[in-house]
Amino acid sequence: MKKVGILISGRGSNMTALLEAMKEPGFPASCALVISNIASAEGLSRAEAMGVKTMVIDHKASKTREEHDAKMIEALKAEGVEIVCLAGYMRLLSPLFIRTFPNAILNIHPALLPSFPGLHVQAKALEAGVAFSGCTVHLVDELCDNGPILLQAAVPIYPDDTEEALSGRILKYEHRLYPISLKLFAEGKFKLCGSRARLSIDRDEYQRLLQSLVSLGDDQ
Ligand code: GAR
Repeated sequence: MKKVGILISGRGSNMTALLEAMKEPGFPASCALVISNIASAEGLSRAEAMGVKTMVIDHKASKTREEHDAKMIEALKAEGVEIVCLAGYMRLLSPLFIRTFPNAILNIHPALLPSFPGLHVQAKALEAGVAFSGCTVHLVDELCDNGPILLQAAVPIYPDDTEEALSGRILKYEHRLYPISLKLFAEGKFKLCGSRARLSIDRDEYQRLLQSLVSLGDDQ
């Protein structure tokens, strides 16, 4: 059973999806701690209601990013955390933090990386006129939205879409994708080969996985 720490900055709907999955019998990971850098983050009360330990580590109380990250490292290590999940954590992590948890920090991003890294990515996808966008769970390295991709879900863009509608449609798939990615990652099913993370499951299992992760436009 791997111990997971979750970092949030806001609503925490991905965190909630992870916490719900971790309550399922047989899930290979459990959540030891949720940390928010924002005291008013909605996700904190959701985590508390689910019986998970929470902590606020306000970045404004530290002079540097490293100082803030060192406080988070101390809290995560004190709980024995081995895997860190970023769930709407809206700050860059320092090299110090990333090197403390090498290839063990997962992030969810609301676009199909390497397309549309950064912020406001649903608007960027609409602006670019792509037919599909989606979400990506990847390992965090020292570049922004760049590390090895674990899994992706593809979501169609409708001709009359708004940023809000597309964000909501992608979010539903984020809530499916992140728990599946964490489960497979905690089970050691991803093997790192250079910049790539290869999933070692058989083709039938992978096809079943894909069916749950590709929207063919039959949902709004
Ligand atoms: C999610 O859409 C997540 O993919 C995105 O912020 C939202 C957080 O929602 N993360 C990023 O853009 C990170 N670069 P949530 O707090 O309800 O999970």
